[in-house]
Amino acid sequence: MEVVILANAKEIGAVAADAIGALLDRQPDAVIGLATGSSPLMIYDELALRCAAGLVSFSRARGFTLDEYVGLPADHPERYHNVIDRVFVSRVDFAPGAVRGPDGLAADIPAACAAYEDAIRQAGGIDLQILGIGTDGHIAFNEPGSSLASRTRIKTLTRQTRIDNARFFGGDVDAVPTHCLTQGLATIMEARHVVLVATGSHKAEAVHHLVEGPVSAMWPATILQHHPHVTVLLDDAAAQRLQLAGYYRETYRAKPDWQGI
Ligand code: GLP
Repeated sequence: MEVVILANAKEIGAVAADAIGALLDRQPDAVIGLATGSSPLMIYDELALRCAAGLVSFSRARGFTLDEYVGLPADHPERYHNVIDRVFVSRVDFAPGAVRGPDGLAADIPAACAAYEDAIRQAGGIDLQILGIGTDGHIAFNEPGSSLASRTRIKTLTRQTRIDNARFFGGDVDAVPTHCLTQGLATIMEARHVVLVATGSHKAEAVHHLVEGPVSAMWPATILQHHPHVTVLLDDAAAQRLQLAGYYRETYRAKPDWQGI
């Protein structure tokens, strides 16, 4: 796991956008895993700027989102399919239909989850997965207690996650759906490169467990310690509880420019 501590959100966005740009240069039809939440917004902003400037193109790329609320109407602004379209997909040059998400309105939920796993497999798997992390250590919507071997399935959201996400539903916790479909931890572990972003002191505890804690279903993100290529991009506030912060900074400073993340 490579830990990179940067000065601010803009630098985080630039480092992640460099990695995605380099991937698309060598593989224009790459498959990118997209995440909702506020953490990746700086990456999407940077990529939208670079795309408008002709520096990067998604015209042959495909995308898969991590998760979706169950039961939100198709036109609901907080449906993740609509969120990712608004914050990223519509701002770059993806081909129509190139970005898919789990179907939170499916009548047959287990079949929809299996179809989603199949679609990712048929696309050749995810080359680079963008991730955030919940304050309780969840990734996608794999809440504490999730099987470390889980695949795409329905999950019940914790009260904490619903409180955290109420800000998108007019501050009303009861308006936040109770269930979601989410890629499982084993699904996420199959991505070839995982880039996880966390900023702010409210993420410091989850980041501490993710990077330096024991692997445990109680902090689902810790499964990433078993992944061969994970990059964790942090600001100072999110890194404040890391025991080896000095070592991570020194390692990154000493890295040659050409190497990337
Ligand atoms: C939601 C999403 C996660 C995201 C998390 C953190 O629960 N399902 O994918 O990582 O929130 O969100 P934020 O980045 O806004 O803190």
